[in-house]
Amino acid sequence: MDQAEGLRLLVKQFRGEVQPEIVFKQHDALSSSRIIAVTSGKGGVGKTNLTLNLAISLARDHGKRVLVLDADFGTANVDIVLGMFPRYNISHLFLENRSLEEIILVGPHDVKILPGVSGMANLTSLTEGQKMRFFDELEQYQAKYALDYILIDTGAGLSSNVTNFLLASDEIIVVVTPEPTSLSDAYAIIKVMNQFNPDLKTNIVVNMAVSEESAKRVFNTLESVSDKFLNKTLNYLGFMRFDKHLPTAVRQQKPLVLSYPNSDVSIEILRLAHSLDSKIDPQQKTMRNFFELATKYFGWNHD
Ligand SMILES: Nc1ncnc2c1ncn2[C@@H]1O[C@H](COP(=O)(O)OP(=O)(O)OP(=O)(O)O)[C@@H](O)[C@H]1O
Ligand SMILES: [Mg+2]
Repeated sequence: MDQAEGLRLLVKQFRGEVQPEIVFKQHDALSSSRIIAVTSGKGGVGKTNLTLNLAISLARDHGKRVLVLDADFGTANVDIVLGMFPRYNISHLFLENRSLEEIILVGPHDVKILPGVSGMANLTSLTEGQKMRFFDELEQYQAKYALDYILIDTGAGLSSNVTNFLLASDEIIVVVTPEPTSLSDAYAIIKVMNQFNPDLKTNIVVNMAVSEESAKRVFNTLESVSDKFLNKTLNYLGFMRFDKHLPTAVRQQKPLVLSYPNSDVSIEILRLAHSLDSKIDPQQKTMRNFFELATKYFGWNHD
């Protein structure tokens, strides 16, 4: 909704044609989506499963409107984990001028899914016009559906696509496992992000931990190194155990929180969703900020 539409609604409200709550909701829609990119240094640590199950839990248990953007342009697989068969993916926005409305799928509990594409050319190699359309459409979609959250599942590592999405987000979640390589690669991401934006809120989720205590130890190790060498504070969001139900759910192509709601990791994801949703940053940025930051980091000069 643009400003003019907002004003028209206010006029209608004044005339008694619409309820004040509707107007309030519509205005709310403009104001805020929390945009969180999920990443890791090392691949295969559980990002995609965390992103999707977190999205479903936020929608189902907290009544939030959530969009999952599959921004892993190397090995996009959000749709596979969900057992969905998208007709279109993000490449069709660029190649066939499809709209986001046409491309986005509606998943469980009304979670919206923007399917990614494997092996897509780097987003930075798109033309200015293509990037402009993507972020314009995303902004309009966010406002239309009054999204509370946009969760971005990125690829692992430090490609420019990944770092650009991380920098354009309000905050990031870095997934680590207790393996030393995972930790050192996570530190590498944190270090690079810190050079670009020292204020980027950085949440840590420890996956495949044997216990809560061991997860905390992993976090403390990472945090002490970040603190000492980067003067950077990290936020411990929570942990997930190794849970044999997760590979089974992936094989069955049904998200864990739906297929095994009582499994350890399902319960831990519920806790993570609660922890995330209860920490609303009062300085929360808006889609406009995302838009501006995306403009900056994807090298697109608007206007
Ligand atoms: N807590 C867990 N317990 C058991 N297995 C897990 C757990 N987390 C992840 N896995 C296993 O690891 C696999 C990879 O998970 P996922 O695809 O979510 O990782 P990813 O970080 O998105 O990988 P990529 O970097 O390739 O995108 C899953 O299919 C699952 O079998
Ligand atoms: Mg993945």
